[in-house]
Amino acid sequence: MDKKKYLITSALPYINGQPHLGHMVGCLLPADVYARFMRLSGADVLYVCGTDEHGTTSEVGALKAGMDVEDYCDKYHKIHQDIYKAFNLSFDYFGRTSSEQNKEITYRIYKELDKNGFIEEKTIKQIFSVDDNQFLADRYITGTCPYCGYDKARGDQCENCTKVLEPTELINARSTISGSTHLEVRETKHLFLKLTALQDDLAKWLAPKEFSWPDLVYSIAQKWLKEGLQPRCITRDLKWGFPVPKEGYENKVFYVWFDAPIGYIGITKQWSDEKPTERNWEDWWLHPENVYYAEFMGKDNVPYHTITFPATLMGTGENWTKVDYLKGMSYLTFNGGKFSKSEHRGIFADDAINEFPADYWRYWLMANAPESSDSSFNFENFASTINKDLNDVLGNFINRVLKMTVSNFGQTIPQGGEDTPEEKSLYAKIDELKADYTSYMQKLEFRKAMTTLRELWVEGNNYIARNEPWKVLKTDKEKGALILRTAINLIRLYALLMAPIMPETSQKILKLINVDEKMMWPEHCACDELTHLKAGHMFNPPELLFTKISPERVQELAIKYKEVEV
Ligand code: MF3
Ligand code: ZN
Repeated sequence: MDKKKYLITSALPYINGQPHLGHMVGCLLPADVYARFMRLSGADVLYVCGTDEHGTTSEVGALKAGMDVEDYCDKYHKIHQDIYKAFNLSFDYFGRTSSEQNKEITYRIYKELDKNGFIEEKTIKQIFSVDDNQFLADRYITGTCPYCGYDKARGDQCENCTKVLEPTELINARSTISGSTHLEVRETKHLFLKLTALQDDLAKWLAPKEFSWPDLVYSIAQKWLKEGLQPRCITRDLKWGFPVPKEGYENKVFYVWFDAPIGYIGITKQWSDEKPTERNWEDWWLHPENVYYAEFMGKDNVPYHTITFPATLMGTGENWTKVDYLKGMSYLTFNGGKFSKSEHRGIFADDAINEFPADYWRYWLMANAPESSDSSFNFENFASTINKDLNDVLGNFINRVLKMTVSNFGQTIPQGGEDTPEEKSLYAKIDELKADYTSYMQKLEFRKAMTTLRELWVEGNNYIARNEPWKVLKTDKEKGALILRTAINLIRLYALLMAPIMPETSQKILKLINVDEKMMWPEHCACDELTHLKAGHMFNPPELLFTKISPERVQELAIKYKEVEV
């Protein structure tokens, strides 16, 4: 962690997809938590994201909506932006893969690849749907995966075994658009990225990652290398996309997966172009020696970002920033099943925010992040986590401490008392947990981080339960004051430590205790942190931070979002 700049990206969501909780926790939210944590730690952070706009999915989405594809993308870009804002995702920039900037970088990269001999033209046989009267892009062919037998594999990738496919490999192929099986194989010319020629360079680059990348990510990349890299087609027969700057390719555009990852760079340039005197995208993308680059994505995206995209960058011969750490996430299911907007099943980001505050979701999702295996959402578990962790453990502690202080001393931190062995052992315990929590956040081990955060809250409760200030106050006011003063300082510390996970609650708590300091990750030992706010400091009247979710509400929600069949 000796590098100065932290570049953070999360997979760019498809413009036509409605983001659901699985997307939130699969890349956007963990990237945000990490970005917030690193900023608090004093790092120079750039967190970029944006909509992935090209490809058949947008064309078909626009067609269904009866809209021009550009208008359609404008509309949905705004929708995505609003939803993420409601979830408090702290992007430094939220851009678009269809931007002029991305076109410019995509052409630059393509031209370098071509100049260096990594692009080849091939005549290929492609699937033409007679009933749809068009060549079918890969995603618009569905069939059985020849490797694992999954019967809904798409022409570009099997989502079950993550194997990247050529559409002609599918068994029982059919058009996803019409369902027609009247498919013909016809000849057409396409451009290919010669991944085979980049295999050795990639292997060399990947080798040392074995010790730092999550096992899941490293093994997906190694599996690919072992199987041997194949040339990858980077053009498509579509209208929507960046035109291929080559004679004979007038009806073709670049494949969405060619310009989408390049979109990280294009989006950074969008950010940079807004304030060119202050920002320079090249500092982030062409000076890797100054940058630590962390990427977040779902496991189905891993091959593109460990193999195809780095190879694309390597082939240019330019010194582009390449991923240093890749956090690949498993899937979140909706009570064991799939989220489906069309069937109104599962809770999507817009619904979520209408039902509960963003922090409830952020907390539950991070506490249940599908890190080493898939995890499952259901309302009962959600309610029980919110009720126990946020209400009973955290909320109750804050409320009790502040109320007790007000009724004995008014809205002021009370004076008196000297540290006893109780306080000293509290400091030691808090120091230990704070160090663990920080280290889990640095290592992006979110579940462990969340367990530790909760333990920190439990320690506060234990301290109060053991020392019984409500009793002590009757006989020894000074000692009671010490306990409450220490507890109010714990509240401040909690607000700082939870800031990456629950930014709104953190702000609310700081306001409650009237703390208006520039937030920094607490690095002092607990004996300083827990004596930071001094006697005489005034605070605001206590206020409830969370509301319990009743069993009736759980039932209502389960029915509303089709968690249970009715
Ligand atoms: N849109 C893709 C998905 O949702 C992710 C693209 S990530 C990018 O699976 F970096 F390539 F853009
Ligand atoms: Zn498969």
